[in-house]
Amino acid sequence: MSSKKKVAIIGSGNWGSAIAKIIGANVTKFPHFDNEVKMYVYEELIDGKKLSEIINSQHENVKYLPGHTLPNTVIAVTDAVETAKDADILVFVVPHAFVPRICNSLKGKIKSTAVGISLIKGFGETPNGGIELISDVIKNILSIDCAVLMGANLAGEVAEEKFCETTVGCRNKANGIVFKELFQTDNFRVTVVPDTYSVEICGALKNIVAMAAGFSDGLGYGDNTKSAVIRIGLKEMIRFIKTFYPDGTQDTTFFESCGVADLITTCYGGRNRRVSEAFVKSGKTLDELEKELLNGQKLQGFQTACEVMTMLKTNGHVDRYPLFEAVYLIGRKDIPPKDMMEYLRREPEDL
Ligand SMILES: NC(=O)c1ccc[n+]([C@@H]2O[C@H](COP(=O)([O-])OP(=O)(O)OC[C@H]3O[C@@H](n4cnc5c(N)ncnc54)[C@H](O)[C@@H]3O)[C@@H](O)[C@H]2O)c1
Repeated sequence: MSSKKKVAIIGSGNWGSAIAKIIGANVTKFPHFDNEVKMYVYEELIDGKKLSEIINSQHENVKYLPGHTLPNTVIAVTDAVETAKDADILVFVVPHAFVPRICNSLKGKIKSTAVGISLIKGFGETPNGGIELISDVIKNILSIDCAVLMGANLAGEVAEEKFCETTVGCRNKANGIVFKELFQTDNFRVTVVPDTYSVEICGALKNIVAMAAGFSDGLGYGDNTKSAVIRIGLKEMIRFIKTFYPDGTQDTTFFESCGVADLITTCYGGRNRRVSEAFVKSGKTLDELEKELLNGQKLQGFQTACEVMTMLKTNGHVDRYPLFEAVYLIGRKDIPPKDMMEYLRREPEDL
């Protein structure tokens, strides 16, 4: 990467805005970052006013991160190409379903020397029923290197500057140092590891486990049950990674923020848990609840469960993932939530 690096943020939802608060402040702390950070905003009207204009005049994302001031260095831009074309570092932070379309719009229009980092939790799907890592979707479409950042990082708490940790998965040591400078604060501690696959896949799979935790809460089970859900879910996450993405996988990564810590946070505080609890109590569909409860935010766990199940079915591995299967079947309303325990009792013994 060259000197005076320009940073662009592709996304401005809850997490995108929280990370913009950090990046916008950190670029002023190091002489080698350019002090203007463009942030791609998917335009929408809030009480008749354009969200991008509100952000640029009030320095607040009133829809996705109300109550927090964004640094003046952060400029909302509604065109993805305009946001990214001069950037040396591209921070991707949109819900995963939008990644292919946005990347295709950027193809051939960004610096060939740019590097990416994905904060996105979820998978892409391949035509033959497999999954594709979002960092690979970005790499393949844009022909750039792409690291990942995942951790126990509920956006609201990060924005409130409550102490937490995160994990950057990056194989290039020099880029890892730059990413640490860009993201780390006194209250947002960054650990860089080379095991990018485990970091990224933990970030996607934990949303499935969080749905199981939400079903457990909705059914009225207590903390012991939730701990069992978390433990069984963690084992399925590790089993999945070691089976399908063994390259460079290290057990130590599962003990970083991206692993067990993110899983615990999501199973207690995240949106997937919350909507899944409401799913059991209300009998409504996940789509209905996403619209009702999430104010434009996206529920990711169920889509991830569907993608993972397609892959497990294709590879004949379904019976080794009873928790993932239960979440998939409950989300589709193929089985009632109360049947989840039946699936958890089937946990395979070996790893
Ligand atoms: N929110 C969190 O606490 C958190 C924490 C860590 C990681 N993440 C991950 O970060 C990623 C982004 O999540 P978020 O919380 O910033 O988003 P969000 O769910 O809060 O908001 C949705 C975003 O998508 C945009 N959008 C809606 N329709 C669109 C379209 N058709 N094209 C492009 N953009 C569109 C909206 O404008 C908004 O910016 C996700 O993968 C999520 O898992 C979120």
